[in-house]
Amino acid sequence: MKQSFIILSLLLCCFFYTIPVKAQKKDFSNCTQAGCHHVKVQYENVHSPVEDGCESCHQIGAKDHPVKKKDAVKLVESVPELCQQCHDIPMSGKSIHPPTKSGECLNCHNPHGSDNESLLIDDAGTLCATCHDSYVTREFVHGPVAGGMCTGCHNPHASEYAKLLSRTGQDVCLFCHTAKKDIQSKASVHEPFVEGCMDCHTPHNSNIKYLLVTDVPQLCYECHQTVEVALANKSEVHGPFQEGGKCYLCHNAHVSDFSPLLQMEEKQLCFQCHNKKIKKDGRTIRDIEQDVNANFVHAPVANDGCSACHAAHTPNNYFLLSSAFPAGSYTEGKVENFAHCFDCHDSALMEQAETTSATGFRNGNRNLHYVHVTREKARNCTTCHRTHGSKYEHLIADKVPFGNWEMPMKFTVTASGGSCLTGCHQELGYNR
Ligand code: HEC
Ligand code: HEC
Ligand code: HEC
Ligand code: HEC
Ligand code: HEC
Ligand code: HEC
Ligand code: HEC
Ligand code: HEC
Ligand code: HEC
Ligand code: HEC
Ligand code: HEC
Ligand code: HEC
Ligand code: HEC
Repeated sequence: MKQSFIILSLLLCCFFYTIPVKAQKKDFSNCTQAGCHHVKVQYENVHSPVEDGCESCHQIGAKDHPVKKKDAVKLVESVPELCQQCHDIPMSGKSIHPPTKSGECLNCHNPHGSDNESLLIDDAGTLCATCHDSYVTREFVHGPVAGGMCTGCHNPHASEYAKLLSRTGQDVCLFCHTAKKDIQSKASVHEPFVEGCMDCHTPHNSNIKYLLVTDVPQLCYECHQTVEVALANKSEVHGPFQEGGKCYLCHNAHVSDFSPLLQMEEKQLCFQCHNKKIKKDGRTIRDIEQDVNANFVHAPVANDGCSACHAAHTPNNYFLLSSAFPAGSYTEGKVENFAHCFDCHDSALMEQAETTSATGFRNGNRNLHYVHVTREKARNCTTCHRTHGSKYEHLIADKVPFGNWEMPMKFTVTASGGSCLTGCHQELGYNR
């Protein structure tokens, strides 16, 4: 019974549909078939209710339609209420886009259809740029901005966050830069990286590479004034600071497996540059990687790294050392002149003329360190020792610098002492 009623209704519908005169008043979809309005065929994406006809939005107005009369296409309700009948577009939140708030849906959407996504009257990027400044004017433009994907970050209607952002805080960025979420496994995490991508980056564009807000090092100095002050007070600074001070030669601005935010394991970091000789003020700085690739490596170099002795940016002493050490071959034989070595070693090794314990470098109980070092014109420790690593035991050097000449030195260890053959004197041995 119910079924046959439905079938009958359908048949009736078809019947009336084929009588144009009557249907014209009721069925607006005819308007497209009559070739007057091309609403349906015109667009790649047709608004779903338009598929079903026109009446969900338009009232049939003047009797003499299709004659062009204004109210012939009268809407059943005005925009935006009409749209809100079927759509629940949020109109509240921390930020509401002015054109949405004032109900100008048609500034952005075509109510019938469009060749663009989301019935937009233009592709998203061009659409936004009709009212907003273009962001492609600077040298570096963020990928999604260049691609016109403003909605990757903004909601076009309203948002519970400021600036119409679809997410808040780091999530704005981590939505796409997912790899940067991995901070748990990192030994060193930069504090602002956890909270403020925008402390350092701009979201749209910049004249500085990597979309930075300010150039490095100025960017870093904004929060690390002590580093700036320390560097400014030094007459001589480490090479990497002399040319623009690009902190990221050594530090990663985000995270690192090596504290403090070092780009790589510390020794490898220094070897980026100190794997070769470097010319400086007419002298040559040695290749330190080669120094360290030695049979015997000074314990702190092997175990702790370069900053056990060197201050990478704010040196107080020659050779960027943390405490005093003489630059030349000779100096006055006072403990404080060799303060650097005695940060770790007992100065008794050069202070006691006679000893049976302060040093192994003695002949009987005659302290040979005292003999060589504790005098007005003392020999520098580097006359006999290499500071990083050496071919011989006890870090004894195989070459002794003398003016521009490198004297070869042969050191032999014996059970109770050793012997030295150098250009300084004939072969001499010591026996404890
Ligand atoms: C989802 C609602 C909706 C549907 C369905 C709809 N329209 Fe419209 N139509 C509108 C709105 C909104 C306007 C703009 C009115 C204004 O500018 O004030 C409009 C305007 C028009 C206009 C005048 C302006 C123009 O674009 O030429 C015509 C003609 C028109 N519609 C025809 C149709 C026809 C024919 C259909 C059915 C095939 C249809 N509409 C279905 C919402 C709709
Ligand atoms: C009679 C109900 C109805 C009315 C009135 C209506 N829509 Fe829709 N609209 C729909 C339906 C159904 C869909 C398709 C379902 C969906 O994608 O959510 C849709 C989809 C859309 C889409 C998404 C299209 C896409 O490709 O993703 C936009 C944008 C849209 N409507 C805008 C409007 C605007 C603007 C108005 C007012 C001028 C309006 N709608 C009025 C029912 C309606
Ligand atoms: C400033 C331009 C703009 C205005 C004004 C605007 N929209 Fe949109 N709308 C968009 C864009 C862009 C998208 C696509 C969003 C996306 O891709 O994430 C969209 C998507 C939509 C969608 C589909 C997706 C969704 O969010 O549900 C609907 C429906 C919609 N708009 C309806 C409306 C209505 C109704 C109004 C008026 C109250 C309106 N829009 C005003 C730009 C606008
Ligand atoms: C019809 C004009 C118009 C279009 C199109 C338009 N906007 Fe706006 N938009 C405005 C106006 C007006 C304001 C408020 C004044 C201002 O901040 O510039 C605004 C403000 C904004 C704001 C700042 C909101 C705040 O809380 O400060 C954002 C973000 C924004 N628009 C994004 C977009 C995006 C994304 C698009 C493209 C989907 C877009 N706009 C398209 C007119 C428009
Ligand atoms: C990668 C995310 C992202 C993309 C993509 C993006 N924005 Fe933004 N936008 C932001 C953020 C974050 C802010 C807030 C800036 C702030 O608070 O300083 C913002 C702010 C704005 C503002 C407010 C004024 C201002 O400059 O602070 C407007 C307008 C705006 N965006 C428009 C756009 C337009 C138009 C596009 C597309 C061409 C776009 N945005 C693409 C993230 C983005
Ligand atoms: C919608 C996805 C998306 C969002 C959201 C996003 N980005 Fe991007 N970002 C990209 C794409 C795509 C690239 C370009 C990919 C590439 O070059 O490797 C990029 C590249 C970058 C670059 C490198 C630019 C260069 O010059 O090499 C930086 C820096 C950046 N984004 C920062 C941010 C920040 C900060 C945020 C949050 C405000 C953010 N991104 C949010 C997609 C996104
Ligand atoms: C303390 C400043 C600072 C903060 C905070 C910061 N960045 Fe960076 N970012 C930089 C610097 C400097 C560079 C370029 C030099 C480099 O590679 O280390 C960079 C480079 C980038 C790059 C391009 C190179 C790469 O690593 O892929 C992306 C993408 C990026 N940042 C995204 C982000 C995101 C996302 C956040 C927040 C989760 C963020 N940044 C937070 C300073 C910062
Ligand atoms: C928005 C502020 C801010 C900016 C910009 C900033 N930093 Fe930091 N940085 C911090 C804070 C906060 C800490 C943690 C407290 C501290 O050690 O001072 C920190 C710590 C560090 C540390 C020590 C990390 C550790 O594990 O001990 C290094 C190295 C560092 N920053 C380098 C940089 C470099 C390089 C830049 C520029 C690319 C930079 N910072 C820019 C705020 C900032
Ligand atoms: C030649 C490599 C190198 C360069 C270039 C460099 N640093 Fe460092 N930085 C280091 C090393 C190594 C340490 C660890 C020192 C230590 O443990 O005593 C460090 C430590 C730090 C620390 C944490 C300790 C402290 O002094 O507060 C901060 C902050 C820092 N650097 C900021 C910067 C800034 C800002 C720049 C750029 C102006 C910069 N660094 C350039 C190698 C470098
Ligand atoms: C980006 C290249 C670079 C990196 C990385 C680098 N240095 Fe240097 N370093 C130089 C240059 C160039 C000089 C010589 C110029 C100058 O200091 O006047 C120098 C000089 C030195 C000197 C002083 C030599 C002397 O005789 O005056 C010491 C010590 C030193 N570096 C130690 C280190 C340590 C320790 C590290 C790792 C934390 C390191 N360097 C990382 C480039 C670098
Ligand atoms: C135990 C302390 C100590 C450690 C650890 C150390 N150095 Fe040195 N370094 C010195 C002393 C002392 C000098 C000055 C005497 C000399 O030239 O040997 C020096 C000199 C230098 C020089 C200047 C050499 C020249 O010919 O002018 C460089 C460059 C240098 N060190 C780099 C490094 C690097 C890179 C590391 C890490 C692999 C490192 N140092 C580890 C103590 C140390
Ligand atoms: C950061 C601490 C530290 C500094 C600074 C330091 N040393 Fe050492 N040195 C050690 C440690 C630890 C050892 C291994 C333990 C030991 O033999 O005392 C060692 C071992 C030695 C040895 C080898 C001992 C042997 O018999 O094999 C010599 C030689 C030596 N140091 C000389 C020096 C000289 C010369 C200086 C100054 C240029 C110096 N050290 C600066 C920590 C340091
Ligand atoms: C004339 C060469 C010579 C000079 C100069 C010299 N040393 Fe030595 N030093 C040696 C010899 C040889 C040994 C090995 C002793 C042995 O057989 O155990 C040694 C051993 C050491 C040791 C290992 C512990 C010990 O005393 O046996 C230290 C530490 C040391 N020297 C530090 C220094 C320091 C610091 C200076 C500069 C203040 C210095 N040396 C200057 C030749 C020298």
